Amino acid sequence: MATILIIEDSIIQAEMLRRLLVGAGYEVLTAHDGSQGFVMARAIRPDLVISDVTMPVMDGFEFCRRVRQDDEISDLPVILLTAMGSARDVVRGLNLGADNYVTKPYDASLLLERVRETLGRPSTVAKQEKCVLQARIDGEIVEVQAGPQQVLDLMLSTYANALAQNKVLQSTQDDLAELNKALESEVERKSAALLEQQRRLSEERESQLRKEAEHLRQLHETLLESVTAIAATVEMRDPYTSGHQRRVADLAVEIGRQMGCTEDVLEGLRIAAVMHDLGKVRIPSEILSKPGRLDKEEFDLIKTHARASYDILKNIHFPWPIADIVYQHHERLDGSGYPRGLKAPEILLESMILIVADVVESMSTPRPYRRALGLEAAIREIEAGKGVKYDPSTVDACLAVCRSGLWAPAEF
Ligand SMILES: [Fe+2]
Repeated sequence: MATILIIEDSIIQAEMLRRLLVGAGYEVLTAHDGSQGFVMARAIRPDLVISDVTMPVMDGFEFCRRVRQDDEISDLPVILLTAMGSARDVVRGLNLGADNYVTKPYDASLLLERVRETLGRPSTVAKQEKCVLQARIDGEIVEVQAGPQQVLDLMLSTYANALAQNKVLQSTQDDLAELNKALESEVERKSAALLEQQRRLSEERESQLRKEAEHLRQLHETLLESVTAIAATVEMRDPYTSGHQRRVADLAVEIGRQMGCTEDVLEGLRIAAVMHDLGKVRIPSEILSKPGRLDKEEFDLIKTHARASYDILKNIHFPWPIADIVYQHHERLDGSGYPRGLKAPEILLESMILIVADVVESMSTPRPYRRALGLEAAIREIEAGKGVKYDPSTVDACLAVCRSGLWAPAEF
């Protein structure tokens, strides 16, 4: 059984190497630096020495040199364990008489193969005729003094080392490719799950939005129904104006649409128009339904309904200025209206529309004190007052609506 001496300062590295060699059937001894190794080599004459390079007290190079100069053990085969890629260490080891080398971290099967090769023959390093060669390492010329066998072994070792490293690299690349594949499929799986979750969330959100939109639509309907119901209570006391507010609302909305108002503005306009005469609840019904002309006092009382409408509505939080719109529905551009005699820039757009719609609808239908004057008379009135009492664009829009038949007065 061959005896191998390990010289290695790292206890862990020495133990790993010892187990490997014992497992392969060798008898193994261990020294922890070159000096101790040299003494042991002389004493026990091992068949092979495997020595680390960097060690305290005496390094692997010095150990090699001493061995080759010692007559008793100059033919002792020595394998140096060098760090991977340190070409200078390899050349230095070669110059000092190493038979072979193995790079660290080493491949176990490669190391055992190297051990078997080296054990098969005694070292001839000391006896070989040295050739002097020059090698360029990192751009620097390094001199190599070695025998032909040594150089051949070195080349074979380098080749085997490269193969082993390539095997490790290939295996690492295979592992990486495997890992990448696993990662990709994991990402795919998670992405699919994420997409599914997003789809569900978006569906839930859509359904929620649909519900909210439906809820809003119902609320608007309820609001309109309530407003219409309130308006109806006023009109019940004044049968001659029954349906007046609704018809004014229809016309006002058509005028607003003709003028390019948004649906939101039109909705506010409809609600204001449907309730614009709400304040009439405060006027005695005998005055509202009085046949014949009203005297000044009665007319002054009638005029209070615009302010009364405002007072009833001002504390209700509509998303439109409903109370202000109805407050202004008897004003005129030139300040000749009531109750405040406001002029053009002070009058809201919605009020300007409501003013024209109210005039046209009122004149087109009968009143307790007069017969219906008719649509043509109403049109003549707003045309005559265009730019004076009535907003010109509103008048134009109203004419377009009436002439195209989008709105027609009620028949009595
Ligand atoms: Fe009115």
